Amino acid sequence: IDPALDLPAEIARLRKERKAVLLAHYYQEPEIQDLADFVGDSLQLAQAAARTDASVIAFCGVHFMAETAKILNPGKRVVIPDLDAGCSLADRCPADAFGAWLKDYPDHVVVSYINCSAGVKALSDIICTSSNAVRVVESIPRDRKIVFAPDRHLGRWVMGQTGRDMVLWPGFCIVHEQFTANRLAQLKARHPGAKVIVHPECDATVSRMADFVGSTAALLKFVEKDPAQAFIVGTEAGILHQMKRLRPGAELIPIPADSGCNCALCPYMKLNSIEKLYLALRDLKPEIVLDEDLRRRALGPVERMLALG
Ligand code: 13P
Ligand code: SF4
Repeated sequence: IDPALDLPAEIARLRKERKAVLLAHYYQEPEIQDLADFVGDSLQLAQAAARTDASVIAFCGVHFMAETAKILNPGKRVVIPDLDAGCSLADRCPADAFGAWLKDYPDHVVVSYINCSAGVKALSDIICTSSNAVRVVESIPRDRKIVFAPDRHLGRWVMGQTGRDMVLWPGFCIVHEQFTANRLAQLKARHPGAKVIVHPECDATVSRMADFVGSTAALLKFVEKDPAQAFIVGTEAGILHQMKRLRPGAELIPIPADSGCNCALCPYMKLNSIEKLYLALRDLKPEIVLDEDLRRRALGPVERMLALG
C-alpha cells in the first residue's frame, strides 16, 4: 500500500464504487468503528446484514459474524479484512465433534450461541446471541430438555436467569476468561463508588460480583442511563470507544487481563486493520464462501432467532 494514500478517503471512495456497506463490531479498532456505516453487537450486526440492500458487505468483526452475514445473503459478496479473525469459542467447537456429542442428547432442543461455525449452526435448532439468549431459551416449552453450546459461562448465566436446566458444551472465550475475581476485588477496593458491569462470557465468580451483566449493546445502554460516575468494565476494551462517547465525563476502568496487560483485547478482532479493510474493498477478498447445502441448513436456526425480534 502506498504510504501516501489517504486510507479513510480511499475506503469511502471504494465503498461507494462497490455499493458496499461497512459493518463493524464494538470490539474493532476505533478508526474502523469511525469509518463504519453501522457499529453494533453481534445481534444488531446480524439484523443489519439481514436488511441491507448493498451489493457487498465488508464485515469488520470475526469470521463467524461475517459467515452469518453470508448465511443471510447468499447473493452478496461478503468480505472480511482478515480471514484468520476467528474466535476461541467457534474454534473449540468443531462441527464433527459437536455432532458426535449431540448423539448423547437426542431428545434435547439444541440452542447455539452465534459464536460458532456454520457447521455447528446447521446442527442446531435455534441460534442466540448474548443479547437475546434469555429470550430464546424462554421461547422453548418448559417440558423440553435443552443443550447449549459452545459457551459454558453464557449458558450458566442463562440458566440462572431463566431457572432452566441445560446441558452445556464446555467452551469458553479466551478473552473473558482472563478476568479473575481476585483482580476485580482489587479494583473494587480502589474504586468503591464504581459500578461493575461485565459480559456474560465471564466466569461465574466474576459475574456474581457485578452490578450488571449484559451483552455489549446492553453494557453500552447501562452506562448511558446509569448516573454512576465510574464504571469497572469486564469485557473487550474496544467497547470503551463508544462508552467514552456516551459518557464523556465518566471514569471507565477496564478490568486488567490476568496476563498483566491493563485491559483485555481479543487477538482475533484485532487482526483486522484499516489497511486490510482497504485491501478487502479494493480486491473484494478475502471473501466468505459457503457450500450452498450447508448455508441452507444453517439458515433456519438463524432465521428462527431473528423471528423472535
Ligand atoms: P456480543 O454478542 O455482545 O456482541 O458479543 C460477541 C462477542 O464475541 C463477545 O465476546
Ligand atoms: Fe470470540 Fe472472545 Fe474474541 Fe468474542 S472476545 S470474538 S468470544 S474470542
